[in-house]
Formats: sequence, structure tokens, C-alpha cells
Amino acid sequence: MISYFTAIFALTISLADTAPTSSPVFPPRSTSESFRLVANVTSGDLSPSIKDYVLTSYHIGAGQAYAVLTPNISSTTGRIFYQNGTAEDIRYRRSNVLSDGGEPLFPFGIVLNEDQSVSVNAGTGTTGVNLALFPDPISGLSAVGKEGFYACEKTLLYGPAVQVFAKAYEEVTPEGCADVKLLAQCSDSSGAEHPYGATSGCYADVAGIDWSVYSA
Ligand SMILES: *[C@@H]1O[C@H](CO)[C@@H](O)[C@H](O)[C@H]1NC(C)=O
Ligand SMILES: *[C@@H]1O[C@H](CO)[C@@H](O)[C@H](O)[C@H]1NC(C)=O
Ligand SMILES: *[C@@H]1O[C@H](CO)[C@@H](O)[C@H](O)[C@H]1NC(C)=O
Repeated sequence: MISYFTAIFALTISLADTAPTSSPVFPPRSTSESFRLVANVTSGDLSPSIKDYVLTSYHIGAGQAYAVLTPNISSTTGRIFYQNGTAEDIRYRRSNVLSDGGEPLFPFGIVLNEDQSVSVNAGTGTTGVNLALFPDPISGLSAVGKEGFYACEKTLLYGPAVQVFAKAYEEVTPEGCADVKLLAQCSDSSGAEHPYGATSGCYADVAGIDWSVYSA
């Protein structure tokens, strides 16, 4: 009898030991309507490192701004976003990603420009910008027809900034730029009402994720 239980026990231990390699494990997610976008560098990196930099807007004109990454200096660094659309819009990737700004608050949207730069402009943004959905096990910004995003040090209107660009399929990331995944971190809301605000998967603390224990 004892050896029977010992065998079962040993089997259980060995299954537990092999579980992480035999089935992929991804960082746990929560859900929220509002989120910030945090850079996870997947190749390249800049100097200083832009790991855990937060997406914000770099104002260039009335209601016009570039998407840039900035060091996280406080709990309010970075713009707050939400996915906008009906359940169908979300399912068919026809949603847009919005962020409130101005006084009183009005919508700005994430825009993919012709030259691959990304903007956060007053208005509805580009349709098809979304947070990756089930079955994707990771909650990050994605855009229909794009492979992902990269970031480069650029000199903009008022000086240097880490600017975000959409990466086309098969495109080689330009020299000196870093591939980034823009991961969603759950956030409080801006305070504005969002009749079509969707519930998104997001992380409690992107900077605190220990990627060495996960499969992606
Ligand atoms: C920014 O840093 C604060 C601590 O100052 C932390 O609570 C927060 O999670 C960070 N925000 C993001 C979006 O990483
Ligand atoms: C939000 O989504 C709804 C439903 O598709 C749409 O009618 C509305 O125009 C969108 N709002 C903005 C600001 O894009
Ligand atoms: C985040 O970055 C780490 C380190 O580069 C990498 O191991 C991990 O796969 C990345 N995760 C995602 C979802 O990009």
C-alpha cells in the first residue's frame, strides 16, 4: 500500500514538474475597459532601454499628436485607452482604440499613418486597431494588416522622442530601432462615459511580469 501511494505521489510530482514545458503558460490577465500600453522589448532595444516605457502622445498641432514612448515616472504616466465598438465590431476586428483628451473630455483615436508612424489624433482613429483577442494568449495592441510595432529615437518638433511605428508584414525593423509589444495594463477610467467601451484583457503590472517563467 505504501509503495502504491509513493508511486502515485512520485507520478504527481513528475507531472507537476513537466507541466510548464508540456503546455504553454502565459502571464495571468485581468479585465478592464480602460488600459495603458506598456512597451515590452522583443528585439533590439534602445539606449537607455525602453523596456516598460509607457505610450503617450506628443502634441504637434491642434488635436494632432504622435504616439511616443516615455519613461514611467508616476502612476499617471501615459494615456488611458479603451477599445470602442459593439461585440460584433470587436469580433470582426472593426473596433478602434480611443483615448479621452481635452477639456471637457472628447475622443482621440490611435491612427496608423501612411508613413507607418502612429498618431493619437482627435477623432475616431483607424478601424482595425485592437487588442489581440482570443485565442491570442497575450493582450497587446495589434492592427489588422500589420505585424506589430517598433520604436525609434527621432527628433520631433520639440526635441528627441521615442516614436512608435507600425511594422508591415515581412518588413525588416530599421537599424537602431527596437521591436516592441505594446501590452495592456489595466487602468482606472478617464471618467468619461463610453457607450461602446469594450471589456479588454489586461495585466495588473506589466513591469512586474517575470517572462522567464512564461512561454511568450
Ligand atoms: C508606473 O509606475 C507606477 C509606480 O510609480 C506603477 O504603479 C505603475 O504600474 C506603472 N505604470 C505602468 C503603466 O507601467
Ligand atoms: C464607437 O463604436 C460605435 C459602434 O460601432 C460607433 O457607432 C461609434 O462611432 C464609435 N465611436 C467613436 C468615437 O469612434
Ligand atoms: C516580453 O519580453 C521578454 C524579454 O524580451 C520576452 O521574453 C517575452 O517573450 C516578451 N513577451 C511578449 C508577450 O512579447
